[in-house]
Amino acid sequence: MERMDLKEHRSIAIDGPSGAGKSTLAKRLAKELGYRYVDTGAIYRTVALAALRAGVEPSDEKEVAALLPGLRVTLDYDGDGLQHMYLNGEDVTEAIRRNEVSGGASKAAAIPAVRAFLLETQRELARSFDVIMDGRDIGTVVLPDADVKIFLTASPEARAERRWKELLERGQSADRDQILKEVMERDARDTGRASAPLRRAEDAVLADTTELDFEGSFRLLLGMIRERLGGTPNE
Ligand code: DC
Repeated sequence: MERMDLKEHRSIAIDGPSGAGKSTLAKRLAKELGYRYVDTGAIYRTVALAALRAGVEPSDEKEVAALLPGLRVTLDYDGDGLQHMYLNGEDVTEAIRRNEVSGGASKAAAIPAVRAFLLETQRELARSFDVIMDGRDIGTVVLPDADVKIFLTASPEARAERRWKELLERGQSADRDQILKEVMERDARDTGRASAPLRRAEDAVLADTTELDFEGSFRLLLGMIRERLGGTPNE
């Protein structure tokens, strides 16, 4: 029934809580393997941004669902392989990174209609390219037949610390305790929601990066991927 059975492309699913380093690692792994990196969080963020701009509370199921038919959420890749997000044709790649959009995204992502609305976009990408896709439900829902599934995690404190530094580097002021609180709230929402909650797929390999720096995490994941792809990644 699913065209996904006739797989022409390889797919690697990386799921885990926010701040575990999924996007930075997946980006670098994609470059190394010649795959396309798909940041699915950015897709949810784009819907949250649309809600905020419309003055709709992102957790309001009815109001957000009513917005969906009027939304065109698309993406493309620039010459450096970076994913750009578009909301009704406007490039919102920068705008979706703001802190208030992060909270909104995890609220909007709990709405089943939002998840259904974005599912096909994600699957279509995996049918079209070799992908490393990161998110919360890639290995469990979006690409249950992914060639490699990794569940990437780190302690909430380590993740909050990374997020804090990331915001400072972007020139946004941030309170470390507040970030930890937000990380824990998002974890609770992402794992506690009824629709496609964050959880490790049974066949996903666990990677805990609490004690690892970027290089160490990168080598760990590359090793896991090469082992599971049978040592034949793309050149
Ligand atoms: O990875 P991120 O922080 O950019 O994701 C933003 C929010 O979107 C996050 O709180 C959870 C949600 N999300 C999701 O529910 N499913 C995905 N596949 C990706 C993100």
